[in-house]
Amino acid sequence: MTLAELENAKAASLAEIAAAQDAAGVESLRVKYVGRNGSIPALIKAMKDVPKEERPAFGKAVQSWRAEVEAALAAKGGGAGSSEKRVDADLTLPGMWRSLGVKHPLTRVMEESAAIFSRLGFTVADGPELEDRFHNFTALNTPAHHPSQDRSDTFWFGDDCLLRTQTSPVQIRVMEQSAPPVRVICPGRTYRRDTTDATHSANFHQIEGLYVDTKPVSLADLKSVLAYFAKEMMGDGVTVRFRPHFFPFTEPSVEVDFTCHVCKGKGCNVCKQSGWIEVAGAGMVDPRVFGFVDSRRKDGAYDPAKVSGYAFGFGVERIAMIKYGIPDIRWLYENDMRFLSQLG
Ligand code: DAH
Repeated sequence: MTLAELENAKAASLAEIAAAQDAAGVESLRVKYVGRNGSIPALIKAMKDVPKEERPAFGKAVQSWRAEVEAALAAKGGGAGSSEKRVDADLTLPGMWRSLGVKHPLTRVMEESAAIFSRLGFTVADGPELEDRFHNFTALNTPAHHPSQDRSDTFWFGDDCLLRTQTSPVQIRVMEQSAPPVRVICPGRTYRRDTTDATHSANFHQIEGLYVDTKPVSLADLKSVLAYFAKEMMGDGVTVRFRPHFFPFTEPSVEVDFTCHVCKGKGCNVCKQSGWIEVAGAGMVDPRVFGFVDSRRKDGAYDPAKVSGYAFGFGVERIAMIKYGIPDIRWLYENDMRFLSQLG
């Protein structure tokens, strides 16, 4: 075919496409011109017989013919990706696999907790992981001789700098910055010099909660909030009980158990037949803690005679492990997709 013949053929093909009446007509023209055995692919195959010096111009003309035919077919609703291809496709082949990421179980528990507490008016507060002695211990009414201050229990950097052992110091930072009422939760990373095993990790996560007001706050308020959290996080039929305990920064202090979410309190292997699972520490904020805050603020906003409040703290890993039935804390840090993707 000469260049002139090619131009004629092109004009004829475009006229034909323009005149096509329906989808079937467009499709048959697609097959005729650009289909696998169509005239344009045939011309491309025949390029090798075109004299070398004419090849570039000829090639260019063929390509432009193809482009114009495809554009004309597309304008008519046909062209590439049209029915012939779809019918040819082997529908029994597996589809395209797109791997979808899932949120880490610890992230999920933290986000879900924030959502639950936000429905009760709590906001989320943040604090540093590298703390000083005042915020991590002193202001939390923890004396220098308390074992948690020991070098063997805490990661110290010098005398006044440590990796926080709990999220409770964020309580102090929030009160330093905001006058009551405050209603916050503080999720975050915490560190202790624990030897790693199935239930311990040197690095873990906690969520702290704090409510302080100038109107009286009671243990009953605390219990109702934790009962709501238990039900929302673990499901209907799960409630809380308090057991007396001791924490330096709360008085009275309690340990908080959830009804076992598996047996709903009847007794099973998960709760070691007790019907309860220990999940948190809590209590009424010790007036001495308010005193320490006031010693920094110096404005009397946290005068222990004028404010009251409750605090609680629970382990994020602990909630994740009981909620998802994870037997070993280390699984949460190994980033093994065979495990993580099951919890998506
Ligand atoms: N900080 C405590 C811990 O790490 C947990 C805790 C107990 C937090 C009682 C509190 C609380 O706010 O009131 O074991």
